[in-house]
Amino acid sequence: MKNNFDLTGKTVLVTGSTDGLGKLTAEHLARRGAEVLLHGRNMEKGASLLSALKKTTGNDRVFYYNADFSSLKEVDAMAGRIVQAHDRLDLLINNAGIGGGPRGTNERQLGSEGYELRFTVNYLSHFLLTLRLLPCIISSAPSRIINVSSVGQQKIDFDDVMLEKGYDSFRAYRQSKLAQIMFTIDLAEELADTGVVVNALHPASLMNTNMVHEFFATTMSSVDEGAAALEYVATSEDTGKVTGLYFDGKRPEKAIEQAYELDARLKLRELSARLTGIDFSAIAS
Ligand SMILES: NC(=O)c1ccc[n+]([C@@H]2O[C@H](COP(=O)([O-])OP(=O)(O)OC[C@H]3O[C@@H](n4cnc5c(N)ncnc54)[C@H](OP(=O)(O)O)[C@@H]3O)[C@@H](O)[C@H]2O)c1
Repeated sequence: MKNNFDLTGKTVLVTGSTDGLGKLTAEHLARRGAEVLLHGRNMEKGASLLSALKKTTGNDRVFYYNADFSSLKEVDAMAGRIVQAHDRLDLLINNAGIGGGPRGTNERQLGSEGYELRFTVNYLSHFLLTLRLLPCIISSAPSRIINVSSVGQQKIDFDDVMLEKGYDSFRAYRQSKLAQIMFTIDLAEELADTGVVVNALHPASLMNTNMVHEFFATTMSSVDEGAAALEYVATSEDTGKVTGLYFDGKRPEKAIEQAYELDARLKLRELSARLTGIDFSAIAS
C-alpha cells in the first residue's frame, strides 16, 4: 500500500473508535504520527482506550470526544468542542454505527429527536457532524472525508423513511448505509473545487466485530482486512485523487441504482437539511 498521505502534523477524527474497525484504524493512524481524535459514546471506555493508546503508540497527540450519536444535540455539541480545540482537520472518518441489533429482536427504536435510530446514528448524525466540521476541513485542504458504508444497501422509500410501516432492523441498517453513499456523491460534487475529496467504502464482509456477533451467527473476515481497506481509501496517494466513489474493499464499485438518481439524492439532501437544520450548499460555496 502506498501511504503517501503523510500524516505528520495532520489531524484525523475517527468516529466510533472505541471498538472494532474504528479502534484498529485509529491505532494505526496514531502509530503513523497523526494527531488522532477518538470518539465514542461511553466515557469510561473512551478514557481507558485513550490512556492505552498513548502508551502503546507512544503518541501523545491523541484526544477523546464523547457523544451518543443517537442524539443530534450531542453530535452538535461535540462538533463545537472539536472546532474550538483544533484548528485543522485533515481526515474525517465517519465510522460509528449500529447493525441489525441482537438476533431475534426487531423492535423499532428512535433517537433522541424522534427519528428512526439507525438512520440517526449511522447517517444523520454523520451528516450533521461533517457539515459542522466542513469549514475546518476545507481550510485544511487537501483533506479527505470517508464514509464507512456497507455492501448491504437498500433503496430508501421516501414515503416512509423512518420505517413506520413493516419495520425491519436490517432494512433500517441497509437504508442508512445507502444514505451515506448518496451523501458521499452529493457532497463530493459540492466540494469539487475545494481540494476536499469524499469517498465511501464497504470495508470487508462480516468482520469479527460486536455488531456482527450480535446479529449474525458467523463471521467471514478479520478486522485487519477491513482496516487495511479503510486505511487504503483514507490515506493512499491514489485515492486522494478520486472523489464521490464507493469502494468495495480497495476496489471502486457500483453502489445500488438509487445512489445515482439525482432526484433521490435531492430528496435525501432536503430531508437531512430539514431534520438537522443545516444545508451544505451554503457552507461549501
Ligand atoms: N463488521 C462488518 O462486517 C461491517 C461490514 C460493513 C460495514 N461495516 C461498518 O463498519 C463500521 C464499524 O463497524 P464495526 O463492525 O467496527 O462495529 P463495532 O465493533 O460494533 O463498533 C462500532 C463503533 O460505533 C460506536 N457506536 C455505536 N453506536 C453508537 C452511538 N449511538 N453513538 C456513538 N457511537 C456509537 C461503538 O461504540 P461502543 O464501543 O460503545 O459500542 C463502536 O465504537 C460501521 O459503520 C459498520 O456499518 C461493518
